[in-house]
Amino acid sequence: MSHVMPVTPHSSSDSEGWSPQSWQSRQALQQPLYEDALELASATGRLATLPPLVTSWEVLSLKKALAEAQEGHRFLLQGGDCAESFADCTSPIISNRLKVLLQMSLVLVHGLKKPVLRVGRFAGQYAKPRSTDTETRDGVTLPSFRGDLVNSPEFTPEARRADPQRLIQAHAHSALTMNFVRALIDGGFADLHHPEYWDLAWVEHSPLAAEYRRMVAAIGDSLRFMETLAGPIAGFSRVDFFTSHEALLLHYEQALTRQVPRHLGWFNLSTHFPWIGMRTAALDGAHVEYFRGIRNPIAVKVGPSVTPDQLLPLIDALNPEDEAGRLTLIHRMGNAAIGKALPPLLEAVKREGRRVLWVADPMHGNTETTSNGYKTRRFDNIRGELDQAFDIHASAGTRLGGVHLELTGEDVTECMGGARDLNEADLDRAYKSMVDPRLNYEQSLELAMLIVRKSVGSSPR
Ligand code: PEP
Ligand code: CO
Repeated sequence: MSHVMPVTPHSSSDSEGWSPQSWQSRQALQQPLYEDALELASATGRLATLPPLVTSWEVLSLKKALAEAQEGHRFLLQGGDCAESFADCTSPIISNRLKVLLQMSLVLVHGLKKPVLRVGRFAGQYAKPRSTDTETRDGVTLPSFRGDLVNSPEFTPEARRADPQRLIQAHAHSALTMNFVRALIDGGFADLHHPEYWDLAWVEHSPLAAEYRRMVAAIGDSLRFMETLAGPIAGFSRVDFFTSHEALLLHYEQALTRQVPRHLGWFNLSTHFPWIGMRTAALDGAHVEYFRGIRNPIAVKVGPSVTPDQLLPLIDALNPEDEAGRLTLIHRMGNAAIGKALPPLLEAVKREGRRVLWVADPMHGNTETTSNGYKTRRFDNIRGELDQAFDIHASAGTRLGGVHLELTGEDVTECMGGARDLNEADLDRAYKSMVDPRLNYEQSLELAMLIVRKSVGSSPR
């Protein structure tokens, strides 16, 4: 997907007793209990022989691009499902998700006047952290559903058993997804070049309708102008696209951690850009141990309870040499908490002169449950947290370098609000998420336009 870029060798990969399995001597939270160690060993043994999903040169070229984002020369758009499922590994779901991400990125490129780095939350986003290990219904207690990488959501003992074969199935579904995404990108999405083909009926419902119509018309004009000058724009049909997932299930990640010819160290070749979730980011835990030794660019979710005293040692552990592009911090505070929680972290990292890319996840701090039992998020809270994030970074003299969103290209009704003002009753119509509520196609595009509107004006250039 990308070309090879020169990189500086990284010396710490094999240092201080690290190995792809050294995490096993630490406490590993959120791991399933496999009943049969031999069955697990046979599945991970097989997985370790299967081809990787990405290449080391793609991984290193993403790290370089993230370094450019740290300098303010690019903006990161990272998005996709909360949890992928094997059942959703279908042509329309994959292509619609890719389409909305590419359309959003065109809106951002045009508005922010800088290249957008596109990273999907897919081709491996199959494992989920859960608040409890077990679930009880009518007096029956079974293991919690932990994502298709581990078990199955139906409430039966067979379905909830942690099945090592799923490690191999997840790899296969990730490969199918990657293969289709790469083919779509290489072939080009015809209607990407023609915003007049985008589904924009929702714009009429927005108070900003006139402004949005002007924005979309201007994008169309720019694309046509460039195509007139240069012919069909190769850059739009061969856009770089990278993958990411929460590297939660460490047996899976370990089996796909490889050495390659002519590059030092170890690479996680299950994805370009793995991240550590909020629940597994303890400094002395297994996830931090695993992540410190891989050469990928990595991210960590940072929630509202994290203090500067906790964050700085984590940065030291994960990026001791202050390598450019290596570390992204994804803050996910909530619209109500961000004003208090974020500034001290920005100040501490700035004071210490540490190099990070700051990204806002305005989804995970804004989850609530409605009276009719749906897990939802309000568009106004998502937008509010993002607006505040831009302002807080601007006044701290730091830079918000990207956004991390849960979205789908489908017409679901999972988040409330947006131009069509979805309400509690609407959630019944098309609530499909197995885990967290996602922005639908329209809400995603609207948010991209709001990001442009907000950031032109408040972020340091
Ligand atoms: C997620 O990204 O789906 C997730 C579980 O996030 P967090 O770790 O921030 O809660
Ligand atoms: Co989620």
